[in-house]
Amino acid sequence: MTDFSGLFTPFQLGRFTLPNRFVFPPMGLEVCEGGIPGDDAAEYYARRAQGGASLVITEGAYIDHPSSGDNPMLGRFHGDDAWDAWRNVATKVHREGGICLPELWHVGLVYRGPDVLVGNDVEFRDELGQVSPSGYIAPGKQVTEGMTQAQIDEVIAAYARGAAKAVELGFDGIELHGAHGYVIDQFLWKALNHRSDRYGGSPRARGQFAAEVVRACRAQLEPGMPIIMRMSNWKMVDFNARLADTPQELEALLAPIVEAGVELFDCSQRRFWEPCFPEIDDRNLAGWVKAVTGVPTCTIGSIGLDLDFLVSLSEGKTAELDLAKLDELMRRFDRGDFDLIAVGRAMIAEPDWPKLVQAGALDQLKPFATSLMADPLMAHVK
Ligand SMILES: Cc1cc2nc3c(=O)[nH]c(=O)nc-3n(C[C@H](O)[C@H](O)[C@H](O)COP(=O)(O)O)c2cc1C
Repeated sequence: MTDFSGLFTPFQLGRFTLPNRFVFPPMGLEVCEGGIPGDDAAEYYARRAQGGASLVITEGAYIDHPSSGDNPMLGRFHGDDAWDAWRNVATKVHREGGICLPELWHVGLVYRGPDVLVGNDVEFRDELGQVSPSGYIAPGKQVTEGMTQAQIDEVIAAYARGAAKAVELGFDGIELHGAHGYVIDQFLWKALNHRSDRYGGSPRARGQFAAEVVRACRAQLEPGMPIIMRMSNWKMVDFNARLADTPQELEALLAPIVEAGVELFDCSQRRFWEPCFPEIDDRNLAGWVKAVTGVPTCTIGSIGLDLDFLVSLSEGKTAELDLAKLDELMRRFDRGDFDLIAVGRAMIAEPDWPKLVQAGALDQLKPFATSLMADPLMAHVK
């Protein structure tokens, strides 16, 4: 029987003491009519806090900039009509004792409309006024000019307005979406960042945009309110991408972000057990990021399930339970590789996942069938 006791110990995140190590990660379910999360969405988040996630991160929500993204069914963190709805999300999660952060998001050149495309087929739509560091939509595929300094300043200011609004609405801090090939990641990733000013040309320079976003947001938050930076090797346009070829490069890339002051790196993987530098050892991204930065990390990716979310959703396959891998998770956790774990689809299917694990009731955990996405807010009652 796996020993999960380490997951039920407290963790200090900024000024908050989380009672356990469980995070409910950001997941855009395309249920926000007109970009506004309804009361049912607020209850859905609250239900995950009730089930034992001490930290709930909302789906990616577009920041207040015309180029940030515009899928009308995904959350929008701007516009007077959205504010009460977001306040309601924070209030409901607090009601269940959870800490709640919005994930602030700008897609850069990856457009996520109803015709969301993955791989090299991503579409560029000039009419959206999309921006990115060097105008590359995928490696080797430049479709427009890179951002001007004025555009960079505007986008950073939009992140900062999002942070200020998060405080006003009662959130506890923010997560910045720096992963999956969206705008912050487009600066971090050398395949899409061909700049030669202070934002590109060396690993450290590629971290500069993210660091400036962090600084601008920090200035809007109250003392001790956490900033989490989400990051990943994989991108929507390249599942096999790597942010850095060596630990030294990873350290240099993240150094400016660490100096700007983040409480945690949320290290997104499709499968948590995959090594970041397989030529060196078995540590995953969260393990290596913690090692080279000294900053706490969260791991994620198919925890408790046998198929990663992109394969399972794109191929319409049920992700079955894979409880044996929980041993592997705990081996890494107990070794100190990471501090928090995020459970996504498995907590859509079963919001009491942390409580059931604590009770040793692993037989009650559920697989994730893609049919659950037809009504994701109520998936657990099916
Ligand atoms: C439907 C869906 C929507 C997602 N939307 C977001 C998002 O808005 N922001 C983000 O950072 N990650 C998003 N993700 C990725 C998840 O946060 C998570 O990293 C991924 O599902 C792997 O975790 P899991 O295997 O436990 O589900 C999404 C995943 C799914 C399944």
